Amino acid sequence: MSNNSRAGFATKFGAVLATAGSAVGLGNVWRFPYMTGHDGGAAFILVYIICVLMLGIPGMISEFIIGRHAGSNAARAYRRLASGKWWMLVGVMGAITSMIILGFYAVIAGWCLQYLYASLMGGISGDAAYVAEYFKEFTTDPLMPAVWTVAFIVLTHLVVVKGVRSGIEKVSNLLMPTLFILLIIIVIASCMLPGAWRGVDFLLNPDFSKMNHNVFLDALGQAFFSLSLGTACLCTYASYFKRSANLSKTACQIALIDMLVAILAGLMIFPAAFSVGINPDSGPSLIFITLPNVFHEAFGSMPVIGYVISILFYMLLALAALTSTISMHEIGTSFLYEELHVSRRTGATIETVICSVIGIMCALSCGASDAFVFFGKSLLDCCDFFTAQILMPLGAFLTSILLGWIVPRRLVHREFTNSGTVSRHVWRIYLFAVRFVCPICIIAVFLHQAGVI
Ligand code: TRP
Repeated sequence: MSNNSRAGFATKFGAVLATAGSAVGLGNVWRFPYMTGHDGGAAFILVYIICVLMLGIPGMISEFIIGRHAGSNAARAYRRLASGKWWMLVGVMGAITSMIILGFYAVIAGWCLQYLYASLMGGISGDAAYVAEYFKEFTTDPLMPAVWTVAFIVLTHLVVVKGVRSGIEKVSNLLMPTLFILLIIIVIASCMLPGAWRGVDFLLNPDFSKMNHNVFLDALGQAFFSLSLGTACLCTYASYFKRSANLSKTACQIALIDMLVAILAGLMIFPAAFSVGINPDSGPSLIFITLPNVFHEAFGSMPVIGYVISILFYMLLALAALTSTISMHEIGTSFLYEELHVSRRTGATIETVICSVIGIMCALSCGASDAFVFFGKSLLDCCDFFTAQILMPLGAFLTSILLGWIVPRRLVHREFTNSGTVSRHVWRIYLFAVRFVCPICIIAVFLHQAGVI
């Protein structure tokens, strides 16, 4: 299938916004703050930035090259570039990984919808014990979390069936600027609270005594997740890029937007938390248990502002999640409709049904049913672990091997430099990263997880 027979993004700006929409998500506004809180603040951020520069950007460029070269779904793109059918499995693995991710990601996105609804209805106000109990009661309910999960996947479906140009690109053009404005409003409100500077200090002033190898691993995992790497997501989006798009520049722009949003998310959460003396190291429940408390206490004397801020906050989470779930959905949808030779609508429907089933099981695993708890871990945690720690690094590893060692160099060069219009230095740095830095770092992470080093 050539580029011409599929409608791609209409503008380069739209392509950057949509891809940034994929990168910016709960990974930035939920995962990054709790990881930072857990791993000691600025020191973690510093390591994270190094991981993005050394592995993230080259990894993104690699996926862009594969996708734009083929102009087709991920499986076909890997097969085409590698001229070997086994490599197609990397694309297939990406499509399956993204289905699993969409399943559990939609559960968390569904929680955001519930909290948005609750905030609109007057907020989750009460003492700390009440807020914790509210979260527990809601997540262990057998019905509502599953309903919100499916609702979120269906919402995603409605955008994806409309196609790349009038669905994905249009929605991203609208949601990304909105998201940015919401973020800035909440950052300002948070930083104006009394004692907020301690949160800013925690975020920007590194304490190197907190550095250890776990920080490195966490930062690496976070970089993969936040940049949507290793699941053929970027490869799928790049198949809709224009031929003239400068891939290395696009990757840098997206990494920059992604890091900026993550740091702004930190500036939104930590100043408020420190201002009321709450320690932000509670882990994944940070935004669902700690934050309602923070909003309640910080804006206690200004209830209207507290009410508005908490609505804007959960709206922000839901919007950020939506631009990401759209990208996950599109990987499977394009794979299914192009490979099964069915319509986009049918492909999207199959994807929606599969992801909804995974999502419902994940939603029920958080306390409503023991059937989805394995080795003491909920299915949601298992899916998170299996994708972020195994499948995504594996996908990124195989991708860097393919581009660094297997595909003829001139082909990669032509695609990278747009037939010679990008500087040779940038190309050399990329080549070194993709051949040595990426594979070696990923293997080190695997060996570490296996307890070898
Ligand atoms: N990057 C997104 C986030 O930060 C998550 C995401 C979107 C993703 N698409 C993906 C993760 C594909 C893995 C694979 O929230």
